[in-house]
Amino acid sequence: MSSELDADIEAVVVTADQIRTKITELAREVDRDYADREPLLVGVLKGAVMFMSDLARELQRPSTMEFMAVSSYGSATTSSGVVRILKDLDRDISGEHVLIVEDIIDSGLTLSWLLKNLRSRNPATIEIISLLRKPDAVKVDVQVRYVGFEIPNEFVVGYGLDYAERYRDLPYIGRLRASVYTG
Ligand code: PRP
Repeated sequence: MSSELDADIEAVVVTADQIRTKITELAREVDRDYADREPLLVGVLKGAVMFMSDLARELQRPSTMEFMAVSSYGSATTSSGVVRILKDLDRDISGEHVLIVEDIIDSGLTLSWLLKNLRSRNPATIEIISLLRKPDAVKVDVQVRYVGFEIPNEFVVGYGLDYAERYRDLPYIGRLRASVYTG
């Protein structure tokens, strides 16, 4: 918790309490859906770190964890959806019940690529859970099984989401003051 960052936040978009409540709800759904299977949570670094750790602790049944780090070529607007793997999974996922854990789906390009990539490794099942989703995500045909909050198309930080690598440690999600990035 870094209260000194609060001054840079123009408005709170999702409070820490709302995040907690939603994660409990999502975890109950995942528990129900995976009652007879052990999910392998695949967290997409770095944004998903907070969500992944809170979700895993809220699940009532065991799960295992893997992480991937990816980076899109070019800016989001010019991206062809081609993604570079910065850190790959440490193990084979064939036959596993993979649940991709994301913090946010914006253009949807990262997930669309990741889904294809992970599917080619022959998991038994593969689903997506994302804490946040922005409106543009509907343009890409990616089935997202669990979504926490639909949020407007504005620049948000906190709870894993960064601006220039900062603000990930905020316990809530907020809109950054324009003065922070215009100087
Ligand atoms: C963010 C986020 C998603 C992706 C979503 O990651 O965590 O992975 O962008 O955007 P898209 O739907 O437009 O593809 P980012 O590349 O900023 O890396 P980070 O998680 O390390 O901050």
